[in-house]
Amino acid sequence: MRIPLVAGNWKLNGTRASIKELVEGLQSGISAIKKTQVAVCPPYVYLNEVGQMLADGPGPIAMGSQDVSAEDSGAFTGEVAGTMIREMGCAYAIVGHSERRSIYGESDELTARKFAAARRHGLKPILCVGETLQEREQNITEKVVARQIDAVIDLEGIDAFKDAVIAYEPVWAIGTGMTATPEQAQEVHAFIRGRIAAEDQSVADGLQILYGGSVKGNNAEELFAKPDIDGGLIGGASLAAGEFLTICQAAD
Ligand code: 13P
Repeated sequence: MRIPLVAGNWKLNGTRASIKELVEGLQSGISAIKKTQVAVCPPYVYLNEVGQMLADGPGPIAMGSQDVSAEDSGAFTGEVAGTMIREMGCAYAIVGHSERRSIYGESDELTARKFAAARRHGLKPILCVGETLQEREQNITEKVVARQIDAVIDLEGIDAFKDAVIAYEPVWAIGTGMTATPEQAQEVHAFIRGRIAAEDQSVADGLQILYGGSVKGNNAEELFAKPDIDGGLIGGASLAAGEFLTICQAAD
């Protein structure tokens, strides 16, 4: 049995004060979550502070970064290395989020190198994959998702997925209120697991595959009930402690 994981991707949101309040809110309700792994991914500049709060307060709540540099050190202005992220107390690093791919032009190859960098420094990558609305309408969802996953397999090999998470986030469902139906999501999740299983069945059996895209307190349960959906990567609804905990409860 796979343990569910629910991770909050805070994206470019929050202030010192609001983030403190959010973490305190999560900590006050975390004891009700029994088996689901819970993680939050704050903006880089708050990792240190959030990491301290999480280490000192009720838990367990893990922490992840929203990105990671493919490079380890040197003249790369603005980048943040896996070593630094690890040092702040992160266990996870999101790589290949669709906003990185579409707004900042990050390729499958760069994403694969970021995935490798995360692993090199003991971070569990959360590899985001997913199709745009246009790609879904062209019936190439599976082709796109396969290409995004294969770029990582080509660079790192299938064993790399023993210590990784995949998040299926259909781009058309992110921040739009248009959630994929549980059936639509399950179909792609099963495809992803099958793709991994074709290389290694036991890696596929153990792999947590999260769904992301307009998950809310009122639709999480039906999504998480599907056999290949092992939790969620939550954007907007992770910014309110009560709603995020409701989603964690649904996974539990
Ligand atoms: P929303 O939950 O706001 O749709 O965002 C999903 C997402 O992109 C999480 O990484």
